[in-house]
Amino acid sequence: MTSGESAYDPAKPFSGPVPGRARRRSQALAPFSREHHQALREAIELKRARQESADAVWQRFMQFWEQEGRPHFVEEEAVLLPAYARAADPNHPAVVRAMLEHILIRARIAAIGEQQQPVVDDLRELGAWLDLHVRHEERVLFPLIEDATGWTVA
Ligand SMILES: [Fe+2]
Ligand SMILES: [Fe+2]
Repeated sequence: MTSGESAYDPAKPFSGPVPGRARRRSQALAPFSREHHQALREAIELKRARQESADAVWQRFMQFWEQEGRPHFVEEEAVLLPAYARAADPNHPAVVRAMLEHILIRARIAAIGEQQQPVVDDLRELGAWLDLHVRHEERVLFPLIEDATGWTVA
């Protein structure tokens, strides 16, 4: 069991420390972790959405998604996970889960985008998924990638 796995409790996904505290990031993954901090802020905004603020929350999120979120997902899929697959078996539950969450988050964004008015519960649910996803990557996936690839702290 790695240090990342020991701290992770899937029954309490929101209970742990914020990303980056438990373990220093390798140089290769540090930019992704910095973007995760911003993603967590966006997740909080989504989870706080109310009827009156739904439009503004959605517009803010879409700006983040187009500028940072979508390219971040693409780079994880195109660079990080292939790097892991060169070093270890990508049929690992943590890798599969991350990919599934990418699909689910993209599907939810597309669904809200088709709504005439963003539905508050859908915004909050998207925020919860985004939060869960980032915490999974920070606590489980990134330590797994660092251990497999040998990427180390600078
Ligand atoms: Fe991701
Ligand atoms: Fe990520």
